[in-house]
Amino acid sequence: MLTLVVLCEPVIDMTETRKILVTSALPYANGPIHLGHLVEYIQTDIWARFQRLRGNDCIYVCADDAHGTPIMLRAKQDGVTPEQLIAATKKEHEADFAGFLIGFDNYYSTHSEENRAIASEIYLKLRDAGHIHTRTIKQAYDPEAEMFLPDRFIKGTCPKCGAEDQYGDNCEVCGATYDPTELKNPVSVVSGATPVEKDSEQYFFKLGDFTNMLQQWMREGHVQTEIANKLDEWFEEGLQDWDISRNAPYWGFEIPDAPGKYFYVWMDAPMGYMASFKNLCDRTGLDFDAYWKRDDETELYHFIGKDIARFHTLFWPAVLDGAGYRKPTAVYCHGFLTVNGQKMSKSRGTFIKARTYLEYLDPEYLRYYYAAKLSSGVDDIDLNLDDFMQRVNSDLVGKVVNIASRCAGFINKKFDNTLSDALPDKALYNELVAAGDAIAAHFEAREYNKAVREIMALADRANVYIDENKPWVLAKEAGREAEVQAICTQGINLFRVLMTYLKPILPATAEKSEAFLNTTLDWRTLDQPLLGHRINKFKPLMTRIEKENIDAMTDASKENLQQAADAETVTGPLADDPIAAEISFDDFAKIDLRVARIARAQHVEGADKLLQLTLDLGGVSKNVFAGIKSAYAPEDLEGRLTVMVANLAPRKMRFGVSEGMVLAAGPGGKDLFILSPDDGAEPGMKVK
Ligand code: 2FM
Ligand code: ZN
Repeated sequence: MLTLVVLCEPVIDMTETRKILVTSALPYANGPIHLGHLVEYIQTDIWARFQRLRGNDCIYVCADDAHGTPIMLRAKQDGVTPEQLIAATKKEHEADFAGFLIGFDNYYSTHSEENRAIASEIYLKLRDAGHIHTRTIKQAYDPEAEMFLPDRFIKGTCPKCGAEDQYGDNCEVCGATYDPTELKNPVSVVSGATPVEKDSEQYFFKLGDFTNMLQQWMREGHVQTEIANKLDEWFEEGLQDWDISRNAPYWGFEIPDAPGKYFYVWMDAPMGYMASFKNLCDRTGLDFDAYWKRDDETELYHFIGKDIARFHTLFWPAVLDGAGYRKPTAVYCHGFLTVNGQKMSKSRGTFIKARTYLEYLDPEYLRYYYAAKLSSGVDDIDLNLDDFMQRVNSDLVGKVVNIASRCAGFINKKFDNTLSDALPDKALYNELVAAGDAIAAHFEAREYNKAVREIMALADRANVYIDENKPWVLAKEAGREAEVQAICTQGINLFRVLMTYLKPILPATAEKSEAFLNTTLDWRTLDQPLLGHRINKFKPLMTRIEKENIDAMTDASKENLQQAADAETVTGPLADDPIAAEISFDDFAKIDLRVARIARAQHVEGADKLLQLTLDLGGVSKNVFAGIKSAYAPEDLEGRLTVMVANLAPRKMRFGVSEGMVLAAGPGGKDLFILSPDDGAEPGMKVK
């Protein structure tokens, strides 16, 4: 059925100083920030900086999403407490965000006293208003680990296509979604045990109570058209009760008056937006209620990925409304990131962590490239690494920065750093300033790609001006000093306008430009050119991207893969990997390959692919973790022979120290081959 959704725009008075609160989704506290995450943080940060540059009050808060089963289990595997894990991850996240110049006003954690208080308060309000009820349901339970299992912690054979090793909620091979009880041969990822079904009482939020309110809210234009269409499908299906509770053991907040029951991580995660803001209010005196209760005074925007739209456009506005809070002014969804046209891939080195990128490249290159690609829609964006290099080099270095470097030297050296008293081409200057309204409208509408296109068209105009007037030629002619000074003054003023427009995207280059221009880049004062003004010595503002840096970054990301893989598996299909770089014979000769007898093999708790092997090298015993669980059961391995790298330095892995590496060959999965007991080799024998 075709439904036509008519959306109107929220009415916002643009003439007053606006009071705005923006958020980005809270990253989980058990993994590193990567370039995919950064699409959103860069998108939000540019918007927040733009608002401030236009004179609005704009506060940007975020936090780590610190609760849930994966974090609990990960801490256990690492032998640390969840508190230690989330504290360490938060530090890393904060450093990564700072590295990309993401200017949060506050970065907090959902595991905070503020969030506990807010979660309890909201829950009690919902309960007292009759929006919570309990029901007994059947859930998968791991009898060995003595815990209920989230869908993602059950694996088995897809009931639709028969693919093995699929998650409990959907099949990555055929795309089917199903209930974990439908999986064939299900096993718990936690212990390897077969899950059983067990009854337990759970707490549900009656989302259906809010159907009319949500339909009305959607029509008021608080979501993008694509999302409104999705919402309409959900309304047609009917809004189901939402299970907001989880049984102990669970890492999160206990539900008031419900011992042993915890808030599901997705219940207290968005409340983390409020808690982070509350923490800021308590430190700075900002008025919490003005932002969370009075939507006529303030604006509230959530920037998120399209995968979590349901949580933010159904559950979250309903929870807020039911507890007496205001709803978001808008929820803005973006698409996913692809790299070189494909999903980020560890084997291709395109699964790039924020930290790895920062080791090789300037954060502003990526900020600019994402801006040049981002629109207000939910389409995926592609980071094409060749295009990235070409575009940054030609636009930023070749066009924008070049304007300043072509003009600065003359003013610095010949005119005592002083600009002339008049512009030779006031009309051109005015043209650039007049374009500001359209550029501002594009930033406001999150059409950054359009803003960038316009700014670069203006940069082209500025370069044409300099090319035509050739100050370097006039400088050689006697008596034309005033002209040279005026042309360079014009160029530097055009540069100032362009850098002001780019300031939300390139905050560090803008800051360096401010030092050079000896003025603050302020959108609202651009109609006044800098005349008779002293500037400072020009220092290079940005350097070109070198191809070798990009290659080094992707190579290092392959190494990251190796480290990550070491923790889980030491073998795997190499089909899509090119042959690695050549090594010398001397390097090869350093590798001490020996035959070993597998004296003992055992499961590793919490590991998907690893087995722990005790290897006998003819008297010497070594402990090795090997990723061959997909091919062998422990009992099949004991007594067999294998080849191992005997002189590999011991490495601390997630599950313990590994003292070598076992060699197996094959495409992976069930087909990984080690030696047979009857291959006639002796433990400890050197492999030649
Ligand atoms: O999908 C995620 O990565 C979640 N951690 C996002 C949470 S956003 C907000 F609701 F907290
Ligand atoms: Zn399937």
